[in-house]
Amino acid sequence: MKPLTITIDGPAGSGKTTVSKLLADRLGYRYIDTGALYRAVALEAKSAGLAPDDDGGLKELCGRMRVQFVQGSHGLRLLSNGTDLTDSIRTPEISLLASAVSARPVVRQYLLDIQRDMGRQGGAVFEGRDMGTVVFPDADVKFFLDASAKVRVLRRYDEMASTSSQSCAEVERDMKLRDKNDSTRELAPLMPARDAIRIDSSDLTIDQVVQLMLRHVDVA
Ligand code: DC
Repeated sequence: MKPLTITIDGPAGSGKTTVSKLLADRLGYRYIDTGALYRAVALEAKSAGLAPDDDGGLKELCGRMRVQFVQGSHGLRLLSNGTDLTDSIRTPEISLLASAVSARPVVRQYLLDIQRDMGRQGGAVFEGRDMGTVVFPDADVKFFLDASAKVRVLRRYDEMASTSSQSCAEVERDMKLRDKNDSTRELAPLMPARDAIRIDSSDLTIDQVVQLMLRHVDVA
């Protein structure tokens, strides 16, 4: 079977990351977390003292950033100009900043080319917000994964519990803000592609979601 390009879009807390990794593992495909790329830009912008809407500064920053995923002994690592940012991009502050810089056309254009390059040879599961709509409109299989707001907040809270001191109410507040930013921005807003297979994971186990996806991939 030819190596496929599979896209999984959806809001925070929908289970995308866990499911995308498992699906990629089961298929022997690469897993590409595109949210990590936006987070890397956000972290670099913060370190450079840039405001998230400073388009001139962001353009210059992106021009000198070299981001790449490399396989390390502790799984996939994200490097920016050789520095490992994998862990430092996972904070509530960077989540919000990533959402803010992701609305800037200059950042989206920079990452669009990088993502398409990564997808050139197929055989990959791309996780993000606009994978099926903008980055890979001709992907072989597109999924849009969602869950109820309540379930998403609880998942996100559990996920962050070991690394963040945020209360459940704070997680909910940030998630609502990010949902709003990500789905109302002008460029590449979060939405299902017309030909995406929509899955609501609220009442499904991780394994059930992966099995369901594998059935769709099998017939693709
Ligand atoms: O998936 P994540 O939570 O790591 O993504 C962080 C932010 O990056 C998210 O709030 C919006 C942005 N993003 C995007 O605009 N497009 C993508 N393909 C992936 C993420």
